Amino acid sequence: MSNKELFDEVTIGNLKLSNRIVMAPMTRNRAAEGNVPQAINAEYYRQRASAGLIITEASQVSPEGVGYPATPGIHNQQQVDGWKMVTDAVHEEGGHIYLQLWYCGRISHPDLLPDNQTPVAPSAIRPDGEAVTFEGMKAFVEPRALTIDEIKDIVSQYKGAAEKAKQAGFDGIEVHAANGYLIDQFLRDGSNHRSDEYGGSVENRMRLLDEVLDVVSEVWDSRSIGVRLSPENSYNSMSDSDPQSHFEYFITQLNKRDLAYIHLLEGDMMSESRDVDYRALRDTYDGIYMANNGYDKQRAQTALTNGDCDLVAIGVPFLANPDLVYRYENDLPLNEADQATFYGGDETGYTDYPFADKEVA
Ligand SMILES: Cc1cc2nc3c(=O)[nH]c(=O)nc-3n(C[C@H](O)[C@H](O)[C@H](O)COP(=O)(O)O)c2cc1C
Repeated sequence: MSNKELFDEVTIGNLKLSNRIVMAPMTRNRAAEGNVPQAINAEYYRQRASAGLIITEASQVSPEGVGYPATPGIHNQQQVDGWKMVTDAVHEEGGHIYLQLWYCGRISHPDLLPDNQTPVAPSAIRPDGEAVTFEGMKAFVEPRALTIDEIKDIVSQYKGAAEKAKQAGFDGIEVHAANGYLIDQFLRDGSNHRSDEYGGSVENRMRLLDEVLDVVSEVWDSRSIGVRLSPENSYNSMSDSDPQSHFEYFITQLNKRDLAYIHLLEGDMMSESRDVDYRALRDTYDGIYMANNGYDKQRAQTALTNGDCDLVAIGVPFLANPDLVYRYENDLPLNEADQATFYGGDETGYTDYPFADKEVA
């Protein structure tokens, strides 16, 4: 048992958060032309600034890292300026915000990439399913296996993105190593069949994540860096032969880094199955453990009380309730999320979800 309460202040790294409720990263495909964050994005995050911490939607570290239309990047000055509007808005409201760094790898399509390049991956294994392109859904193509020089280049792109995140005024960064994107494609053995130093053993499969964390740690204090993992999420055609022991190894290694937190997407976004023992993973980790996937107020408080986690990230309920913390604190009913407006579009289903206090007044 622990005495942690949802609405308690908590310190992570150098930040004092006003509660233990984190807004989970959510891609909303509402960046302007050139994948530049714009005023409506600043408004959306401003509305949700009462979260203890906001983790932004994933943001690609280079034009080659993109995997969907209208997702905001963090690789040029216009994007830095756009994100600065977002961080200023959140800070004006007294909130805190981390940027999630992203490279999609095989979850992309030539239509989305510079010069219609073939998407890249640890190995030339085509994921099942379809990419979202400007012309609608298209089958994923077989990706090209990265050369070692290309991997080094991607690592340096993460460093550039980390520098730009700092210029844009973020409080920290989260390295997206989950949900079937490039770093996760290296971590899990269903997608990584390499025989060089980036494949085979757990040590080798973790090498890309390690190298990315090394370079971003040259830019940020390690205590301002989080890592997101999803050991058994099958989303994006992912699998692993032994997620429990493999992720215990990865998390043990992360202990050496004095990070802000690790962020676990527990279970599977595609089903109710939950085969991994997350309490064991939590107990493997010495620092702050953020839990996510399907938590509501009750489950979140129970998990905190049981010592199963230190922070809880909430996704869909935060999308639909800008004042989720206030609603939880006052046991108010929640707005329903409208799935039709999750990805792309305008302010409808984005910045127009009502606040409870305005309704009640
Ligand atoms: C619209 C939408 C967009 C998402 N985009 C991201 C993303 O950019 N990065 C990420 O790590 N997870 C993303 N996720 C996953 C969420 O962060 C979260 O793990 C998931 O919604 C489960 O948490 P919940 O049950 O609290 O919603 C997304 C989920 C949704 C619904």
